[in-house]
Amino acid sequence: MDLSSLRKIADEFNSELDLALAGEKSSLRILPSFLSAPTGQEMGHYIAIDFGGSNLRVMLVVLKGQGGYEIIKQIARPLKDPQGRYDYTTDNTSGQEVFGFAADLIAEVVRGVSPDQLGLTFSYPMQQNSICSASLIRWTKELKPRQTVGRDIGKMLGEALIKKRIDIEPVAIINDTVAVFLAGCYYDSSVCAGSICGTGYNVCLLEPSRRTAADQAMIVNTEAGNFSMLPGNLYDRSLDQATDDPGQQKMEKMVSGKYLGELLRITLRDMGEKGLLPGYTPSLTIWNQPFTLPTEVLGWLQTEGSRERQMLNNWMEVNGFDNKLENLTLLKLIGSAILERAMKLIASTYIAILRRPGQINNKRQVIAVDGALFKHLPEFLAGVESILRSELPDRSVSLLYTADGSNIGAAVAAALAEDSIETDARSLASDSTPEGPQFII
Ligand code: GLC
Repeated sequence: MDLSSLRKIADEFNSELDLALAGEKSSLRILPSFLSAPTGQEMGHYIAIDFGGSNLRVMLVVLKGQGGYEIIKQIARPLKDPQGRYDYTTDNTSGQEVFGFAADLIAEVVRGVSPDQLGLTFSYPMQQNSICSASLIRWTKELKPRQTVGRDIGKMLGEALIKKRIDIEPVAIINDTVAVFLAGCYYDSSVCAGSICGTGYNVCLLEPSRRTAADQAMIVNTEAGNFSMLPGNLYDRSLDQATDDPGQQKMEKMVSGKYLGELLRITLRDMGEKGLLPGYTPSLTIWNQPFTLPTEVLGWLQTEGSRERQMLNNWMEVNGFDNKLENLTLLKLIGSAILERAMKLIASTYIAILRRPGQINNKRQVIAVDGALFKHLPEFLAGVESILRSELPDRSVSLLYTADGSNIGAAVAAALAEDSIETDARSLASDSTPEGPQFII
């Protein structure tokens, strides 16, 4: 992908954002969060839940103000047990069961403590009605529990908590990009957008034309993983056809952790079939079963360390993959091409956002990022950042890696929700007549 395609994609992304803002047909969305940037002074004890990747994580977080926080307790459990004892990702599971599973984890964390509030990061497209109420638009990332689409996520979690007699209810529900924005901005007030590249891919931004109740610019979720004005190739199309939602999440399927390993698998299989992969054995499971090549392999291929080399060798051996130098070189080459394309595509969406009218005047621009690709592939963050810097030489642009962004952001959102409840209560009190109560009959 050359520079002119990168710039063209950035322009298309901006046009799609404009259409979404105008309420017209677009592959992007402008989903309100009802929240604005935090001050960095939020404080208190919060239960923070991260529901959106392969693990469900619950933490007890203390916000200390001035960007400081401490994680007091945490539990993470996979939605799908690797030993096969349970699986909350398929349509054999109901929403009630999934949220029941979340409530069990929350019960373990709240035992013996009395947190102020609970914030939930729920990383799927949802239409927000208020800070604490949001209905699920659809699932992404190959998840599909039934009796959930169109339902209120806050209510479902609230009901599960009541059922298990856990005395706390969600006061804030946010997307993970909004969470990483809040967590990043809690620490650095120059944060103007938040992005995740983990199991899925997405971006949110501070949008001046959308206002919160306190008349501040609102953080909006664009569901950038669904951006569709992209030149996909033969392998992208073949991957898309094998997913649960063909035709959707085009960008996500080209850049995120859920799919990059699969792209490598499909490409290698094609080379094998064309006689270009020495020792290719078509009957092996890896060539016949989708999603059997974990994205981690791309990371091992990029790193020279002996631990990574060992992991790679084991993986090749277990999968009956011929461990020839020729094969390794080919794997590395294709792996780098896949990662490089992902970095360029991601950078083009960031460039689009940083150039928007509401952002352009800020001399210092920071995008808070989190997710497995930024976390486990050090070259990834640096690679995206260097494209941004060369395309936007007139200002200071950086990516802020925000560890545990999804959880810390949920805690900050709960603190902001608490403040907005107090503000509402104060304004209600000042609106009432000072003479005493009025009785409405
Ligand atoms: C998917 C979800 C989106 C989320 C992203 C990153 O694209 O639809 O809401 O932010 O994954 O987890």
